[in-house]
Amino acid sequence: MRTFVLLCSVLTTIDAKIIDLSSSDRVTWTFVNKNGSVSGPATVPGGVYSDLQKAGVIGDILSRDNDVLTRWVALDTWTYTAKFQVSKGDLESRVIHLVLDGLDTTAFIVVNDHSPIGAVNNMFVQYVFDIKPTLKAGENVLNITFLSPIVAAEIRSNKAFAPPECVPSVYHGECHANQLRKMQASFAWDWGPAFPSVGIWRPVYIEAYDGAVIRWVTTHIKRVEADWSLTVRAYIETSKKVTKIDGVLSIAIKVEGKQTLKKWKQVNVETKADGTVVEEIELLISGNMIRLWWPNGYGEPTLYDLHVHLTSNIKSEDSYKDLKVGFRTIEIVESPASEILGNTTAGKGLTFYFKVNGFPLFMKGSNWIPSNILPELGESDKDTIDNLLTAAHDVNMAMLRVWGGGVYESDYFYDKCDQLGILIWQDFMFACSMYPVDPPFLNIVTQEIEQNVLRLQHHASIAVWAGNNENEVALRGNWYETSTDFKKYEEDYIKLYVDTIRPIVADIDPERRYLVSSPSNGIESEQEGYVASNPYDPHYGDTHYYNYFADNWNMNTYPKTRFASEYGFQSLPSIRTLKTATSNPEDLNLDSKFLAHRQHSPNGYAYIENQLTGHMKLAANDLKYFEKFVFYSQISQAMALKTETEVYRQGQADWYTMGALYWQLNDVWQAPSWSGIEYGGRWKMLHYFAKSFFAPVLVSPRQLASDYIDVYLLNDRFIPVVDAVITVDIYNWTSFTPVNKKQFPGNADALSAKLQDIDMNYWDYKKEQIFLKFSLEAPGVKWSPSNYIFPVPLKSIVGLKTPNITITVANVVMRNKDKLEYTVNIEVDSIVLFLWLDTDIKGHFVDNGFIVTEPKLTVQFICNKYVAPRDLQNSIELQYYVN
Ligand SMILES: *[C@@H]1O[C@H](CO)[C@@H](O)[C@H](O)[C@H]1NC(C)=O
Ligand SMILES: *[C@@H]1O[C@H](CO)[C@@H](O)[C@H](O)[C@H]1NC(C)=O
Ligand SMILES: *[C@@H]1O[C@H](CO)[C@@H](O)[C@H](O)[C@H]1NC(C)=O
Ligand SMILES: *[C@@H]1O[C@H](CO)[C@@H](O)[C@H](O)[C@H]1NC(C)=O
Ligand SMILES: *[C@@H]1O[C@H](CO)[C@@H](O)[C@H](O)[C@H]1NC(C)=O
Repeated sequence: MRTFVLLCSVLTTIDAKIIDLSSSDRVTWTFVNKNGSVSGPATVPGGVYSDLQKAGVIGDILSRDNDVLTRWVALDTWTYTAKFQVSKGDLESRVIHLVLDGLDTTAFIVVNDHSPIGAVNNMFVQYVFDIKPTLKAGENVLNITFLSPIVAAEIRSNKAFAPPECVPSVYHGECHANQLRKMQASFAWDWGPAFPSVGIWRPVYIEAYDGAVIRWVTTHIKRVEADWSLTVRAYIETSKKVTKIDGVLSIAIKVEGKQTLKKWKQVNVETKADGTVVEEIELLISGNMIRLWWPNGYGEPTLYDLHVHLTSNIKSEDSYKDLKVGFRTIEIVESPASEILGNTTAGKGLTFYFKVNGFPLFMKGSNWIPSNILPELGESDKDTIDNLLTAAHDVNMAMLRVWGGGVYESDYFYDKCDQLGILIWQDFMFACSMYPVDPPFLNIVTQEIEQNVLRLQHHASIAVWAGNNENEVALRGNWYETSTDFKKYEEDYIKLYVDTIRPIVADIDPERRYLVSSPSNGIESEQEGYVASNPYDPHYGDTHYYNYFADNWNMNTYPKTRFASEYGFQSLPSIRTLKTATSNPEDLNLDSKFLAHRQHSPNGYAYIENQLTGHMKLAANDLKYFEKFVFYSQISQAMALKTETEVYRQGQADWYTMGALYWQLNDVWQAPSWSGIEYGGRWKMLHYFAKSFFAPVLVSPRQLASDYIDVYLLNDRFIPVVDAVITVDIYNWTSFTPVNKKQFPGNADALSAKLQDIDMNYWDYKKEQIFLKFSLEAPGVKWSPSNYIFPVPLKSIVGLKTPNITITVANVVMRNKDKLEYTVNIEVDSIVLFLWLDTDIKGHFVDNGFIVTEPKLTVQFICNKYVAPRDLQNSIELQYYVN
């Protein structure tokens, strides 16, 4: 393989011209409703709810019941108008295209009083229109008129109905989201309000050029023995009227040792009818010039800069893309489980695990919902994306599932995942519904899948594509009364996810696995005709599991699975967060209309209450009932997910369970939900607990019904744990001094979970008086969090005292430019359960929700704005559990 020097780079070239039509000094945008009664200046990219808030027409949309009170917005028709100047010179280009990266959703577009240049109906698609004939020198006007998504969905549903009829009435939502290629959660979900948004949610610009532009780039990275083959495919585009592309395509990649590898080729080809061509260049890269990309917790996510460049011979015009690529292999292994588990019950069926760079890795993480209920803010609010993804990274997550009821996220999001080593399980945007399959619908889906796979394919972070969220189980389980017409819906299902979507993915991205649904039985579902007889079969694929009735602190109640891709429990957000949605103190009461409105479970708060009161004491007449209910709901959720997650990690030993992605990472409003991080960014106790239950090395005990204890050692490292000492301290609730201490040797292979040979029970003690603490010390293991067994529900324990707690914040150090680290010293005079530190200063503690078994404890508080240590100290409020 020869590498050429890039000759053309010494010539002077000009870039294909971009005229940005974002709102600015040069481009003014306005919006107006149908009858002209509501109008104002618009921000583009943006959306109508954001614009109406800025104009003061509506208040904070997340306040109280404004989701319902502002619904008129989604029923009106909105026109966005831009006025901008174009010079004579701009008009000389051979190709002049209007490019709209994202329009939400059903709209038509008019330029300069001509008849509509286009009608659009998919928010996930980039639209490109030839506007050379319509543009003029001087002032130009661009009008985009959006129809009500509620009305548009209804009109389509009348022609091509697909179940369900509507979301449950407690969601205060809208019907037939499945008729529109729009964020499905815009019409309400069990964790979120309906804001059926409209607007220009992604950039809009004019491209003017004479030759051609690179529209998309895909990268195909394969191991070739010790080396790598990198194939770069450039999707080149020009006008439909231009029949030939003539130029030079080149690639340059910066590798180790400050070397840049380059290669180029002449492109002199006829375009296809749509004005496009696909060209590729392959480069062989020696293995020693590359370091591997690893998911978080398993190594560094090394990335390399790739520059892809097209110089058209006409006027030496340039178009290029800069990407970062990671070198790694990834596959889902579905092979006979008996090879690992023997001819046992567990060994029936197939494995389901991710093998990265040749190693089977346990995937720890969560599920991502849109970072904002308004798609334009989910796109533009980079701080929130940074904070959420960093928070996932900091608690040892290696994978997030981008759930199918949201959006294909921004380039920024996936870039950040590449950098943080967070693998993405990427659903296509279909969720919890049957979908129409009329030809126009399938056409726009085809466009959507092509473009989004082309846009996202090069990201090292993307691990797998999945056709939809829960639609296989919905169909098999008759969630939407489809059983009388099962055959029809089964055919529709296959037409959409198998016949339409699958070949597109296979063509553009042959290296990645496409799962038809999540959850599914993987290839077993495929062999059963795509709708398996039991898509939840624990012997195959992934599962979603929710059970609000069984005791959620009891490990023995959870079922087996090869890969848990969803599971969770609700809690309430903190009172501080709730107060950002209401200033009325009467709202902060479980019986308030406010909290009833925000709880989309038809069972209200009963599931939370049942789980909570099963373990904790909370008298109905407690003066701090609501405050405690909120706090206890977070304890209950954190303990439940700790329990369930450790069950799945332990399951690596006897069922080869290889993934635990809990539902859900984040929130879109201040409401009871399954999230670990509240809207606004506060961490619930769950998110702090995740850091420990996802620790790379963890001693994980399981209390059996017999009061014997099984002890597992979980090891997600490439080296074994050897010569470990597992210490079990048995504490009386009354004292810091253990009443007994036992030590056992421990070990675990690399990348394994292992049941330890430990004979352990607590028959000698009164169960209400004691608890057990497990800790691990082993050569080379720097950090392994302690773990606990509480033999009886906390409401039944005796001896736990009300503690005396002193907090002092002595010093602060600057970690880097915008990271301050405060040391918080905590002194207590007795055992404390779930000690929770809270402050209104923006930042977070590195740990929280402590089980305190020693008189002294320190914890760091991280923030990016200086406050006096004394002020931090005085701001800290404490909560804990006591009977
Ligand atoms: C114009 O539209 C607004 C918002 O939909 C509505 O409230 C108002 O009644 C309408 N006015 C007229 C004159 O129709
Ligand atoms: C563009 O929209 C504005 C505001 O609704 C309207 O006054 C104007 O007539 C529209 N122009 C075209 C060409 O549709
Ligand atoms: C499982 O049983 C099959 C069929 O009886 C046999 O061929 C295979 O070797 C067995 N595998 C193991 C791991 O024991
Ligand atoms: C725990 O401490 C209390 C108070 O000192 C004592 O009465 C009780 O016997 C102790 N229980 C155990 C199991 O040590
Ligand atoms: C708490 O600590 C303070 C200060 O040391 C002391 O005066 C007080 O008696 C303690 N209270 C209890 C209940 O131990």
